[in-house]
Amino acid sequence: MCGIVGYIGARESREVLMDGLSRLEYRGYDSAGVALFQPDGIAVYKSQGRLARLAEKLAAIQPPPTTVGIGHTRWATHGAPSDINSHPHSSARVSLVHNGIIENYSKLKEFLKLQGYDFISQTDSEVLVKLLDFHYQGDPVQAIINTLAQVQGSYGLAILFADQPDHIYAARKESPLIIAYGEGENFLASDIPAILPYTCRYSVLENGEIAVLSRETIKVYDAFGTPVAKEVLTADFSVEAAEKGGYPHFMLKEINEEPDAILAAVRPRIEDGLPKLGIDGLTDDFLKGIGRIHIVACGTAMHAGMVGKSAIERMARVPVDVDIASEFRYRDPILAPNDLVVIISQSGETIDTLAALRMAKEQGIKTLAIVNVVGSSIARAADWVMYSYGGMEIAVASTKAYTVQLCCLYLFAMHLARVRGTLHEEVIRHMLGDMMRAPDLIRGILAQQKDVQFFANELMNADDMFFIGRGVDYALSLEGSLKLKEISYIHSEACAAGELKHGPISLVVEGMPILALATQDAVYEKTISNIQEVKSRGAKVVLFCKEDAHVPEGTADYIYRLPCYEGVLMPLLLEVPLQLFAYYVSLLRGCDVDKPRNLAKSVTVE
Ligand code: AGP
Repeated sequence: MCGIVGYIGARESREVLMDGLSRLEYRGYDSAGVALFQPDGIAVYKSQGRLARLAEKLAAIQPPPTTVGIGHTRWATHGAPSDINSHPHSSARVSLVHNGIIENYSKLKEFLKLQGYDFISQTDSEVLVKLLDFHYQGDPVQAIINTLAQVQGSYGLAILFADQPDHIYAARKESPLIIAYGEGENFLASDIPAILPYTCRYSVLENGEIAVLSRETIKVYDAFGTPVAKEVLTADFSVEAAEKGGYPHFMLKEINEEPDAILAAVRPRIEDGLPKLGIDGLTDDFLKGIGRIHIVACGTAMHAGMVGKSAIERMARVPVDVDIASEFRYRDPILAPNDLVVIISQSGETIDTLAALRMAKEQGIKTLAIVNVVGSSIARAADWVMYSYGGMEIAVASTKAYTVQLCCLYLFAMHLARVRGTLHEEVIRHMLGDMMRAPDLIRGILAQQKDVQFFANELMNADDMFFIGRGVDYALSLEGSLKLKEISYIHSEACAAGELKHGPISLVVEGMPILALATQDAVYEKTISNIQEVKSRGAKVVLFCKEDAHVPEGTADYIYRLPCYEGVLMPLLLEVPLQLFAYYVSLLRGCDVDKPRNLAKSVTVE
């Protein structure tokens, strides 16, 4: 996620901005920039790369002293990382920095071109600043109101108007922004860490609110220009804690971000209630002609691919293979000219996955990448890219990235089904509407974490653990097992429930914890039978099922019930308690939750 800082006061604004941006580096970024109110007007300094590069640029240029400015670290969503695409973006009269996604930027861009505006970047943010310029007739707040009335999407904005040297303006919708109060100075930031060294008094801008900062005052208005009184809060946690938004670990923060991540991934890709992938060049004709789909990834991304296989085959009736990338690249796979290779990667830098992508391209096979990091190696190498818009994921254990990978795969499956005529549009509309209920359902699950904490506490000292399930519940078993083992160091494995009696059941001893996933109606009874097999051999069973499931007496030691939901979409809900279980077991065992031993966030070496 991008980082925003604004300052107006008596200090050297450049120093406050750079210091504030450095405290937001944890959010991840690929470029940075500042806009400073200099005696001769607004000056913009920006560059791709780390803050250090921007600092070098500023040291070389030595801008004149300034006491008003805005700064930005960019997490690319539209347009690859580059100097030109970095923020701030400017028109002749306005400069701004933006965190968020403008969903209707293409239409707005066409409108502005007709008004005579030129564009130099590939970003949606440049469209925003030029639209502001178009509406600006001397009243900044009115210009902001008129501009945002035309905008669909999310934004956290810090804005400078060239003829308003003693003010900074801000607006917020979805992307967090705080205003902070000093003595003879005021601040604006995406997150508290940026301003903590200067003040601990702040207010949170709510969706639709606009703020006007001067050295002495901060005034806030609603979307209609009506003044709003803001509650002043006091930050009572350390800078380090604040970087995690008040959560004890990035992993827990990122799990809690999953509802918003789903909205970021899905909402820009819906038009008239149907999926609109918006992937340039990926034509319906090509999609109609696909013979086979090969999903290739590693780790959690591969587990997402297994859910994608189920969704694509059920909805679009296209055969799908799922391969571990390090296996795919060496098994001389049989690829036909009309096949599609789908590459999934959070980082976009996993070497095995990148190598598999290159191998497919060498054989002339079209490739679609589902990637979280914009401009990453895999994103640049693929024929087509579907960014997952999950925001920066810092914890080594992947959680919200997995969530948005599922969302992208579901959207792709629905679109493919629509193009190939295997699902009626009304069925797709209903399913997409169901998918949009996931954020609220997940918020409900997150509110009930104490249930998960209870059986995490019961099972934390296990030496071995099994996860079992059928169909997508087997795919979730693999993911739940990986989450647990990678951060708690408990030996854990996943087993297709129907496979237990072909060997693994010999491992089941008295008291062995078995997490049984049974969310799929079609195989529910079969899975219950498998659970009774292990229960009769002394296993301690935690059953994950739907809230209306009938559970025969004595089947499980603990029952975790999930909201009733569309079967193929259940992984969106089931992943959450599994992630939380791994998190709490790891915590109880005193492990380093965010940075588990031996692991890296991105495996860029073979
Ligand atoms: C998941 O919790 C792990 N961090 C790991 O399996 C990860 O999913 C895998 O390394 C793939 O990474 P990528 O998505 O960045 O390609």
